[in-house]
Amino acid sequence: MSSKSSNESNSDLPKSPFWEEPDALALREGFWLPTCLLDSAASFRQNFQAREGDVVLASPIKTGTTWLMAIAHSLLHKPKSNDANNADALASNNPHSLVPTVEFELWSPTTTVNIFDPTSPRLLHTHLPFSLLPASLSASKIVYIARGPEDTLISMWHYFNAVAAPVPLEKAVECFCSGAHPFGPFDRHVAEYWLETRRRPEKVLFVKYEDMKREPGREVSRIAEFLGRPVAAEGEVEEILWRCSLERLKNLEVNAAGHAAYFRKGEVRDGKNYLTPEMGDRIHRSVGVKLEALGLFFSDRR
Ligand code: A3P
Repeated sequence: MSSKSSNESNSDLPKSPFWEEPDALALREGFWLPTCLLDSAASFRQNFQAREGDVVLASPIKTGTTWLMAIAHSLLHKPKSNDANNADALASNNPHSLVPTVEFELWSPTTTVNIFDPTSPRLLHTHLPFSLLPASLSASKIVYIARGPEDTLISMWHYFNAVAAPVPLEKAVECFCSGAHPFGPFDRHVAEYWLETRRRPEKVLFVKYEDMKREPGREVSRIAEFLGRPVAAEGEVEEILWRCSLERLKNLEVNAAGHAAYFRKGEVRDGKNYLTPEMGDRIHRSVGVKLEALGLFFSDRR
């Protein structure tokens, strides 16, 4: 995290294609950012003044962002009545509409969210790496979600093939292993937040998608406590898990058009269904070993 202003010119930055789009990414301080988001990322870093109580969710792409958004929003905006339908914001809003991703909002010409406005939502999300966050966020609570590299890559492949011209899996593996994908390299993104959670566990909570799948109740309670909103009432965790479940959200009308690509299978080890052993080895050598060195996401490919 730094307050250093970014005075490099965007056109001087190294560029990379992504999927079929030339110069889609630009390398800023070791991370590949979508070229269209360079200005908004710099503006966020330079101008955002965090306030007490702000909560920031952070993630690489395709690691469970949508799920975390739904859960954090549910925890911070608990329904005031027992009328589930009236009180449940998720019934009529996609989680991404409830928790704005700052770099997208600052870039979008049609945004309705002004993150510099003190009355704007203070539950925000970013895909930016820790080292590119505004310095003022050092006092804020950050919840980060990560996921094993193979499943992240396969989720990314399905997602971008659904929203852009499809590419073969070999090309997606190459992109992922080279680190030249939005907000990559993946291992470095994860490592930065992991080191920060070790340094300041009271400010940065590290959540793994796999743990959320295995022990969702325990993980939701952990997030709730971290956010200072412990779940006390009996059945409350189960209620939140139901509200935020993939099965429910996927079938809501509000998530059908335009948002369907966010909701797919949500399975752990789905990567194994697609990757050849050679691809798995390649991912392990390029990305996995660096995460294992941190004690994270051990693979069975060793
Ligand atoms: P798969 O592609 O493996 O199914 P992100 O939200 O960061 O874009 O991540 C998308 C991944 O999270 C997708 O994984 C998607 O299916 C899964 N996902 C989305 N909503 C979820 C939910 N409510 N519960 C569990 N997984 C969810």
